Amino acid sequence: MVAAEVLSWNAHLLPTTGRALDFACGRGGNALFLAKRGLDVEAWDLNPEALALLDEASARLGLAVVTQRRDVEQNPPAADSFAVICVSHFLYRPICAALVAALKPGGLLFYQTFTDARLPESGGPRRSEYRLQPNELLKLFSPLQLISYREEGLVGDLAKGWRNKALLVGQKRA
Ligand SMILES: C[S@@+](CC[C@H](N)C(=O)[O-])C[C@H]1O[C@@H](n2cnc3c(N)ncnc32)[C@H](O)[C@@H]1O
Repeated sequence: MVAAEVLSWNAHLLPTTGRALDFACGRGGNALFLAKRGLDVEAWDLNPEALALLDEASARLGLAVVTQRRDVEQNPPAADSFAVICVSHFLYRPICAALVAALKPGGLLFYQTFTDARLPESGGPRRSEYRLQPNELLKLFSPLQLISYREEGLVGDLAKGWRNKALLVGQKRA
């Protein structure tokens, strides 16, 4: 499993210590990436098979990732609890405020998911409600200080660039 671009392209922004959360982790590419960087990583998801694969991978690589089967829509993280939260390819708008609250002061959110504007047969959810509207990540996380943002929509040469998704890195003000 590889990490999402929002993490791999922005790894230089990560702290070297602290608690990190891979939220709706799936097989946990982001969790493994964060653990390799020395962070204390938790990885939450509803799917036990995905979590078991992540447990196997972290054991094989000698990385400490604490997995938890958890409905993240019903049980968001506690306030002021993580230095880093990463969310990729998951969108449940009602928990966005709780994600902001869950960051420690100075903490960073790395978020990437699918946009409704997309190329044909580009993958991801079919239903528009599970996809971001134009600039929606900016609105959902407007309480954070914007550190990095990318969303290209369908502008220009569609054979080039980074399409079908948006990414945001934001920091909670200290
Ligand atoms: C498209 S996958 C993305 C996985 C991973 N973040 C990635 O980018 O590869 C969406 C994940 O969200 C998880 N998920 C969906 N609803 C959830 C919920 N209510 N609580 C916890 N996990 C949930 C699914 O089990 C799945 O692993």
